[in-house]
Amino acid sequence: MAYTEPAYAKLNLTLDILGRRDDGYHDMRMVMQSIDLQDLVSVSLQEEPGLTLTTNLPYLPRDGSNIAIKAATQFFRDTGLPLPGLSIDIQKNIPVCAGMAGGSSDGAAVLRLLRQLCLPELPQGQLEETGGRVGSDIPYCVRGGTALAEGRGEILTSLPPLPPCWIAVCKPPCSVSTPELFAQVRVKRLRCHPDTAGMLEALSSGDLDGIAHRLYNVFEDVLPRRYAQVFEIKAALLNLGAMAASMTGSGPTVFGLFPEREPAAQAVQILSEKFPAAFLCRPTPSCFPPHP
Ligand code: C5P
Repeated sequence: MAYTEPAYAKLNLTLDILGRRDDGYHDMRMVMQSIDLQDLVSVSLQEEPGLTLTTNLPYLPRDGSNIAIKAATQFFRDTGLPLPGLSIDIQKNIPVCAGMAGGSSDGAAVLRLLRQLCLPELPQGQLEETGGRVGSDIPYCVRGGTALAEGRGEILTSLPPLPPCWIAVCKPPCSVSTPELFAQVRVKRLRCHPDTAGMLEALSSGDLDGIAHRLYNVFEDVLPRRYAQVFEIKAALLNLGAMAASMTGSGPTVFGLFPEREPAAQAVQILSEKFPAAFLCRPTPSCFPPHP
């Protein structure tokens, strides 16, 4: 029998880089939001030993370099449970290398499914810690919803949900290397930073206008010129009536917030004529019931 979970895409309402760490990573402060653009991840136990992966995207790696396999391996390493025969299937809808944590979200869904199947009493915090050993965004993806992510991304504080709104999401046909973009950042030279405290206040008071006006991602300020389509899409979203628009993660996906469905749907329709990877989305709350 297969157990299936949605793996939601994430957007950065804010992304700030505070400094470079001795371990080569960066200290971050980010407000993250899940949206209903989702992959479907299934896990089933098999008689045959070993881990197998199937997916609808033929070019995704299906060996140990896939983050879903890494997450499963780490789960059994950390829990000490014997590795059973396991097959994982991923139906991908979230664009890859897009700044929406699609791969991390698949890995996180595998972790939640394995907990459900093998060790339901495993505390949420431990599952998130296992995720953190696989990738910086996985702890957040295990939890989902609206959250402040600090440290490498693994120190999480759940936040009040983004008020109901519509989100036009659009990925230009290019991909950005996250490590290369981090390498462009000279933290002391960053002239602007997001107003994270103001964003937290706006979320607490359910002030969509205040949230929209505080969308900010410092990666936009170091993005090489060849990614001009990011700014083209941002400008288009604003022209089409978005309250505000921003890039998510290390890009190149851009999103715009709208209070109403109709203009958001129209923006997606117009953008999709030039950029086929355009999606009309809604925020999702933390979909995973609070766990011990
Ligand atoms: O943890 P993850 O494998 O997702 O990170 C990918 C890359 O992004 C790292 O190798 C590192 O170059 C960079 N990174 C960083 N600081 C973070 C998260 C990621 O420098 N907090």
